[in-house]
Amino acid sequence: MKIFAEFKARRQNLINLMVEGVAIIPTSPEAIRNRDSHYPYRFDSYFYYLSGFKEPESVLVILAGPEPKSILFCRDKDTEREIWDGFRYGAEAAKAEFSFDEAYSINELDTVILKLLANQPKLFYSLGESANWDARVMGWMNALRAQARSGVHVPDDVSDVRQLVDEMRLIKSPFEIDLMRRSANIAAAAHNRAMRFAKPNMLEYEVEAEFLHEFYRNGAQAPAYTSIVAGGANACTLHYNANNCELKNGDLLLIDAGCELDGYASDITRTFPVNGKFAGAQKDVYELVLASQAAAIAKVNTSNHWNAPHEAALDVLAQGFVDLKLCKGSKEAVLENGDYRQFYMHRTGHWLGLDVHDAGEYKDKTGNWRMLVQNMTLTVEPGCYIRPAENVPEAFWNIGIRIEDDVLVTQAGCEILTKNAVKSVADIEALMANQ
Ligand code: GLY
Ligand code: MN
Ligand code: MN
Repeated sequence: MKIFAEFKARRQNLINLMVEGVAIIPTSPEAIRNRDSHYPYRFDSYFYYLSGFKEPESVLVILAGPEPKSILFCRDKDTEREIWDGFRYGAEAAKAEFSFDEAYSINELDTVILKLLANQPKLFYSLGESANWDARVMGWMNALRAQARSGVHVPDDVSDVRQLVDEMRLIKSPFEIDLMRRSANIAAAAHNRAMRFAKPNMLEYEVEAEFLHEFYRNGAQAPAYTSIVAGGANACTLHYNANNCELKNGDLLLIDAGCELDGYASDITRTFPVNGKFAGAQKDVYELVLASQAAAIAKVNTSNHWNAPHEAALDVLAQGFVDLKLCKGSKEAVLENGDYRQFYMHRTGHWLGLDVHDAGEYKDKTGNWRMLVQNMTLTVEPGCYIRPAENVPEAFWNIGIRIEDDVLVTQAGCEILTKNAVKSVADIEALMANQ
């Protein structure tokens, strides 16, 4: 029951932020893969954040104002369908179990919603998220407009509900932080398992299978995103996910993989030598990326804004590119003219939570980077990707390295949620030597 109190409190927070009006928040539709086979179902993160309810074909309606209410529309109990597809709560049990004020069959949505929408001053809804829902919601508004001569008022102010919920989602509760620690621990164990398992001449997908094994055996429901298992030059393709090449002796292996546990994502990247020993240029670049990550993590605290970790990582990387003769001129010149972008072309992180690239603005309303606040969660993930090029010494060609951790902003600074995934050259080599 305790966890449903958490979801109820979130709905109350949203009611307070809305002040007045009605919010309509549908969950994701099921997606057909072919004929009667579906893609694995994943609820909508906004819907789930406010309801804790995982069934498809559900809609949450929240009324703010003098008579606040949370109302769920969901599938009916259906003995025949439950024989084929499994348990469904039905409205009555869902209302009791999840602490809604009212619950109805999803089949009653079109009629009941007109009563809920009528005479409301304001509608909160994710316009543009789904063409089907947009058409349906506009249909309801037009049906009410047709009753204008009976004195029915249609909400004349439509506002994106996500702008309110995003701010709530950005600051994690103790319940969410606990889940994120557990999700991070499972993913960290999977990365350590992969390091123990990987050997020259294996295929990338064999290592990917070790991840899936570790995720599922620990209770994670799915990978949080498509795993990147990229040997050698493949690591220089940022979103590589074919995962079907042979791992070569002497190459590095970059793995960006995390799991989803009860809705919450982990997102870790580790890069290690397929044969267990970093070679000359690989080690130089690895130590550089690691130092840039340490500098970035040192900036994750409530005295800094969102972009401070990125700036710190860039500063270290730019100096390193000069020292390794990958870039010409001074660090300041490399930062100014953007030459570093040949080797580091992405930013150093993103919010993390129910979505791997989680909800929340990065700048405040005045256009400045927002300050980091206790209980925000983010990734710190600098990298270096060196494609063959005339201006690059051949020893560096095809080295692709990213090191990514998940970090919680705390009162004292930060906590690295993914600290159990081994990371230093010495720790990686020791782990791999013992296999
Ligand atoms: N795995 C996605 C990312 O690192 O942003
Ligand atoms: Mn990431
Ligand atoms: Mn990642």
